[in-house]
Amino acid sequence: MFVDIRELGAEALADDAVMRDFYDVSRRAELLGREQAPFWGFDEFVGAFRSEDSGERQQLFAAYDGDRMVSAAVLWSFLLDNTEKAFFSLDVDVPDRRRGIGRAMLEVMERVARDDNRRLLLTDSKLPYDDRDNHGYRQFATACGYELANYEVVRHLPLPVPDEQIQAWIDEAAPRHPGYTIETFVHDVPADLVESLCVLLGQLAVDAPTGTVDFEEETMTPERFAEMLDTVKAMNRARYETVALTPDRQVVAQSTLSVPLGESTTVYQWGTFVHREHRGHQLGLATKAVNLRAVQSYRDDLTLITTQNAETNDYMVSINERMGFRPVEVSAEFAKRW
Ligand SMILES: CC(C)(COP(=O)(O)OP(=O)(O)OC[C@H]1O[C@@H](n2cnc3c(N)ncnc32)[C@H](O)[C@@H]1OP(=O)(O)O)[C@@H](O)C(=O)NCCC(=O)NCCS
Repeated sequence: MFVDIRELGAEALADDAVMRDFYDVSRRAELLGREQAPFWGFDEFVGAFRSEDSGERQQLFAAYDGDRMVSAAVLWSFLLDNTEKAFFSLDVDVPDRRRGIGRAMLEVMERVARDDNRRLLLTDSKLPYDDRDNHGYRQFATACGYELANYEVVRHLPLPVPDEQIQAWIDEAAPRHPGYTIETFVHDVPADLVESLCVLLGQLAVDAPTGTVDFEEETMTPERFAEMLDTVKAMNRARYETVALTPDRQVVAQSTLSVPLGESTTVYQWGTFVHREHRGHQLGLATKAVNLRAVQSYRDDLTLITTQNAETNDYMVSINERMGFRPVEVSAEFAKRW
């Protein structure tokens, strides 16, 4: 074959030189035409890839032309729920495009997924807003048998947000949620709250709109949550978790920001979720505003928060627009079933 496609095992994963090539290929591939987009640092990347998540199997693949890495891909297979699905990322280095390498890499991953009884493969790709229907990456997905499943819109909020503005949101929401308390935790969450927080985190994938693909509830155990905290530490980031609690200290709303401790000044909005029975109290706005204030008082040089939501997620999008998040590009999600 014209390139040599290999699965990278534990030895390669532990090898900084191999991982540096993997990172550089991904970086060049993903930033082409969107050079200003936030992209994680090498330390964040290896920290994530070398960490355990008992909820999914991670397999790395690379294509080599001689001894030069020309493509990097990852297949994640869910182990505790959604076990008929797997998700992949696929990057081909910029000078090596249109040589059939992407298609060949995908065939290898599809074979692995089929042999593992997966029936649905998912991926996503960042596309310019105006060209989302015709962009080359979308054409690649179509050529390989993938259908558009969902559009998420990526939005950025420039930081800092003036404290008076944050206070105004908090004051506006407060009369709507008497009886609930809002608390923020950096990194660890008190043991008595972990169980109800895990239930909430598991429901996010069910309730957030995900286009043509339905997800079952995610199995989020306290053990898996602890692994996730370790991953954030390994990435040299801090996890800011703001929760809303009932008087008997059940977590019924949450919002998470992943905050860099190193050079990067980009904050990543992870989930925000309000329990089905506790909606309508502005707990989404309240937890987001309080979390933002906590993060800004920790670091005053942060430049932006990036977030993405399904285009149809009206409630979340309206909160984000209120807070000043503005659309930047789309994340197109593709699916193939067999
Ligand atoms: C998308 C990507 C993986 C394609 O890799 P690639 O090695 O160039 O793809 P291939 O050469 O295997 O292309 C296979 C077919 O897809 C289609 N295709 C691929 N890139 C295309 C483009 N830019 N424009 C139009 N069609 C394209 C063509 O039909 C092509 O066959 P052809 O060259 O015989 O006409 C690569 O551009 C990339 O790394 N993009 C950034 C990361 C990304 O978004 N990945 C996820 C994509 S779903």
